[in-house]
Amino acid sequence: TSELVALCATDDIEQGGIRRGTLPDGHAVAIYNVDGEYFVTDDICSHGEASLSEDGMLEGHQVECSWHFGRFDVRTGEACAMPCEKALRTWPVRIEDGRVFVDAG
Ligand code: FES
Repeated sequence: TSELVALCATDDIEQGGIRRGTLPDGHAVAIYNVDGEYFVTDDICSHGEASLSEDGMLEGHQVECSWHFGRFDVRTGEACAMPCEKALRTWPVRIEDGRVFVDAG
């Protein structure tokens, strides 16, 4: 099934920026703007309880968690620097009418 959920406007996030969003079931996600391309992952780091939208820094396609400097590829959710080992969940993004949607179905 497919359930498109609007998270924010594309203009809400500057390039290189991260914003927090919430799915209808209350799950927190992080929305990234990488050079005008948008990606969505879990907001909570898979290593600890850090919020990547608050405590993360985007560098290219990777987000670095400032708590212990673990990293994830925001395109795939894959962990790419220790101590992070477990991938983040990702959601397919769709941009329509200047808004960022994910398929939460
Ligand atoms: Fe994110 Fe430890 S909580 S790297």
